[in-house]
Amino acid sequence: MAVLFTGIKQLLTFAGDNAPRAGAAMRETGLVKNAAVLVENGIIEAAGPRAAVARHRLAKKAKVVETGGVCLPGFVDSHTHMVFAEPRLKDFSMRAAGASYQEIKAAGGGILSSIGAVRKQALKPMAAQLAARAARFLACGTTTAEVKSGYGLSLDSELKMLRAVRDAKKLTPLELLPTLLAAHGVPPEFNGDAQKYLDYVTAEILPRAAAEGLAVFADIFCEKGYFTPEQSAAYLKEAARLGLRPKVHSEQLSNYGGTRAGASAGAVSADHADHVFAEDIAAMRDAGTIATLLPASNYYLGLAKFPPAREIIAAGVPVALATDFNPGTCPCWNMQFVLSAACTHCAMTPEEAICAATVNGAWALGIGDRCGSIAPGMQADLAFYAADDYRELCYYFGDSQCSMTVKKGRTVYRKK
Ligand code: NIG
Ligand code: FE
Repeated sequence: MAVLFTGIKQLLTFAGDNAPRAGAAMRETGLVKNAAVLVENGIIEAAGPRAAVARHRLAKKAKVVETGGVCLPGFVDSHTHMVFAEPRLKDFSMRAAGASYQEIKAAGGGILSSIGAVRKQALKPMAAQLAARAARFLACGTTTAEVKSGYGLSLDSELKMLRAVRDAKKLTPLELLPTLLAAHGVPPEFNGDAQKYLDYVTAEILPRAAAEGLAVFADIFCEKGYFTPEQSAAYLKEAARLGLRPKVHSEQLSNYGGTRAGASAGAVSADHADHVFAEDIAAMRDAGTIATLLPASNYYLGLAKFPPAREIIAAGVPVALATDFNPGTCPCWNMQFVLSAACTHCAMTPEEAICAATVNGAWALGIGDRCGSIAPGMQADLAFYAADDYRELCYYFGDSQCSMTVKKGRTVYRKK
């Protein structure tokens, strides 16, 4: 049965070209006041002014939902590490006492301290825990999320993390896209030999993840003390050859060359970009790589430096925004907080920030042709907010203003 969501004070459609948005196009919200969205079989049939949508042939028999408020495409959170067994509270206390991310790693915390519990956890509770976390994302207006492995760092545990994503899909309506991040750090059994571990990942884990269809993307952490740009480029090219689309964690803690390495392998996105220089930005533009900024992680780490969004946008590189939800650098699942951080600390406009969190997030996952914007034929992934003006979503922070979330036409969250 068709559903007519109507009485929307402000609808941001982001309807436009079937491509990531760059430059001034990031500010084109497709705003419609007093609007409606008509949905049938999980697909948008019509969206626009209330009176015009009401004349659609399906509108007559549709179930009518008076929503009020602001309606946006559901957020597409294109970078998360949602599978982890335990929070890192010891790291948190250390950081509160002044230790940096690198100092915490040197003291035995960081990524490697997450692997013990992940290796021990069984698949079923892992999938259930992921589905429980997914409910938090849905309640904040997110309808699609990428999920990385990367806390197992062995064949069995990395595949288990990816299988948890596969199994959680049956437990939550949040759409989940899996990424193999076995190259997230060097596990203790390799005694710091990054090349030997990467050879093992390349020979054993990557082909299995690809052959079993467990991952859509492959990612690598390119940073001093993790993997070099040369290793990253070679690894990502091999991943691409096996059918996994490259992504890269790059220029997060220093300017190291990961962005250019990713671009050379045709990465769909290069993520973090805190320390990019002009030549890195040019490489992304030339390769058609999206810059995914994760400013909530800068906030959480208490960093003074945030990614140079203005330079990246001025250069014509499409920018996406994501949470980076993970136990070490960003325990935040709320994309509305990311909007606030992007406007307050990266000088992005509210229009650019919302574009980056929806349509460009979808392109960073290669699915912008079916979600991330509101137009006939698109997937009916919608989020409604108790606000009069869409800028309130970037302005108020620290809470969620989401009142209802709709995934493929079905209401999957309603605020009590
Ligand atoms: O995106 N930088 C690498 N990966 C994560 C952090 C993971 C962790 O500390 O557990 C990030 O910030
Ligand atoms: Fe990350």
